Amino acid sequence: MNALMPNYGYPTVSFERGEGAYLFDMDGRCYLDFAAGIAVNSLGHSHPALVSALQEQAERLWHVSNLYAIPDQVRFAERLCGLSFADGVFFCNSGTEAMEGAVKAARRFHAHNGQPEKWRSITLEGSFHGRTIAMLSASKNTKHLDGFGDPADGFDIVPGHNMSALRDAITLETAAIVAEPIQGEGGLRPLEEDYLRNLRATADEFGLLLVFDEVQTGFGRTGKLFAHEWSGVTPDVMACAKGIAGGFPCGAVLATDAVASTMTAGSHGSTFGGNPLAMAVANANFDVLTSEGFLDNVVCSGEALQAGLREVADRHPDIISGIRGKGLMIGMVVAAPFTNTQLGDAARDADLLTVVAGENVLRMLPPLIIGDEEIKQAVDAIERACQTLATSSDD
Ligand SMILES: Cc1ncc(COP(=O)(O)O)c(C=O)c1O
Repeated sequence: MNALMPNYGYPTVSFERGEGAYLFDMDGRCYLDFAAGIAVNSLGHSHPALVSALQEQAERLWHVSNLYAIPDQVRFAERLCGLSFADGVFFCNSGTEAMEGAVKAARRFHAHNGQPEKWRSITLEGSFHGRTIAMLSASKNTKHLDGFGDPADGFDIVPGHNMSALRDAITLETAAIVAEPIQGEGGLRPLEEDYLRNLRATADEFGLLLVFDEVQTGFGRTGKLFAHEWSGVTPDVMACAKGIAGGFPCGAVLATDAVASTMTAGSHGSTFGGNPLAMAVANANFDVLTSEGFLDNVVCSGEALQAGLREVADRHPDIISGIRGKGLMIGMVVAAPFTNTQLGDAARDADLLTVVAGENVLRMLPPLIIGDEEIKQAVDAIERACQTLATSSDD
């Protein structure tokens, strides 16, 4: 027991420093970090471009609030709009806050256009949108809601990949359909491209907005700047965070002009959102992500990692029953009676850090800068972890 609330339990491992894809614990033990702060440290640890952007900004100006213009905010917003469907951006500090902003923008759009009765969102089972009361209510995960009272109203949850259930849920009060292109925490479950196209068509048919939660999938994680680009389906509103500034807390809501223009002065805000420190790092991170060939490398690395993991899975089908995901967002489906926690612990003993997800999946979310050496090391570590589990089940 220590002075922290026990909501994260009390983790025993802590790190002293990081370099590229590696983390070093207090005893100097080196781990390959394929968790990357849960899809955050896209350029790995201590990337020189991010370090110098942060240092330079820290010496000039940290924070001023949004009562004053922040030129790097405008610059980053313009760059994001230039490479996405969006025409306007709002900056905040986290994924949950970005999703709150996205849902608020969808509600605001309809109210502004004379239909304030349209305020509900249709969300998908197995989704995760964050931990505020509203975002927990959007996902309606009973485990996460336990002890926090009744969910907030305004969210109607339907099973994914079931258009008739979704159409049945649409009422005159529906404002938006909300989806993650790949459900991350839910177990690395990609939504089929046809389904995404149907979501878009249905939103258009009923005058609803399509909101994508790209908090985990965005900023190069899947090998495109945003995961929805793989399907060609564009949303009206999108929430981003995690990899947006390589580890500096930052989130963003991106929206079309029709939506963004309804967020008039005073309608929304954030004290820290888009402050000079966050914007300096986010712009530097974006320079690297959008440099020539960077995202192609993510695609190649993702394919090589998946191929290596498939070979391990073929050798240990009773431990890993499948590999899924896109780019460097990869899930290993662990076969019962083994658990993702057991495989993750064995991987950590083999000096590899991973993250668990729903549906007994173990996630790999490495920094996007990894190459052949790190991929080989990770695959070897998973092989060793499988051998450990296989041996322990023989005992
Ligand atoms: C898809 C998705 N949305 C929202 C969130 C919440 O983000 P944050 O923890 O930054 O509030 C997460 C976090 O895992 C996420 O994966």
